[in-house]
Amino acid sequence: MQYISVILAHPYTHSLNAAIAATVVSTLEKNGYGVYFHDLYQEGFNPLINGQELVADDSSDPLLRQHQEEICRAHGIIIVHPNWWGQPPAILKGWVDRVLRENTAYTFPTGDNGGGLPTGLLPAKAALIFNTSNTPAQREQDVFGDPLERIWKDCIFAFCGVHTFERLTFGVVADSDEATRQHWLQQAAEMVNKHFPATA
Ligand SMILES: Cc1cc2nc3c(=O)[nH]c(=O)nc-3n(C[C@H](O)[C@H](O)[C@H](O)COP(=O)(O)O)c2cc1C
Repeated sequence: MQYISVILAHPYTHSLNAAIAATVVSTLEKNGYGVYFHDLYQEGFNPLINGQELVADDSSDPLLRQHQEEICRAHGIIIVHPNWWGQPPAILKGWVDRVLRENTAYTFPTGDNGGGLPTGLLPAKAALIFNTSNTPAQREQDVFGDPLERIWKDCIFAFCGVHTFERLTFGVVADSDEATRQHWLQQAAEMVNKHFPATA
């Protein structure tokens, strides 16, 4: 069975983000995939890297090891989070810092001290990002430059060797009615179906 990692970063269990993640998980299961699901706030993921972990990859945190083992096996990665200040929530930034480490998610060629071109190590065939926001799409492009696209597509997933990437932003959430939110959930399911279709 192929496994997909699904990471949710939102503190409120009845949020739109939580509903998107639930749709993603149920669509994957319906299509025949196993799911490594983590609600980072609910499981109390610690986003703070400490000095020992930073310099020696020395951590006694079993949850961290579980995240790293799963991401190194995952056939796909799906992350769900709100746009907070043009960035992921801090808990998810900490997940990136601690989980996607050198020699776990990427490496450098022999003799390269880390200044050269990285080699991605993640085996995932595709990475999908689902975001929610309160900024109209045109203003996000024109005024803020949509930093989340660059962060996830280039700074993180291409760096780690995952070059098939798609991201969908739902908004404006603050103005949305129930029918619109149901339509967004349908769109999320369709994007999952596109990249992770039903297995034989
Ligand atoms: C700390 C914080 C920062 C936010 N920053 C932004 C932002 O930079 N751009 C934006 O469009 N919305 C921003 N928002 C609004 C959220 O994106 C919005 O509330 C969320 O996407 C709605 O989804 P939810 O109902 O699942 O929480 C921010 C909200 C919070 C709480």
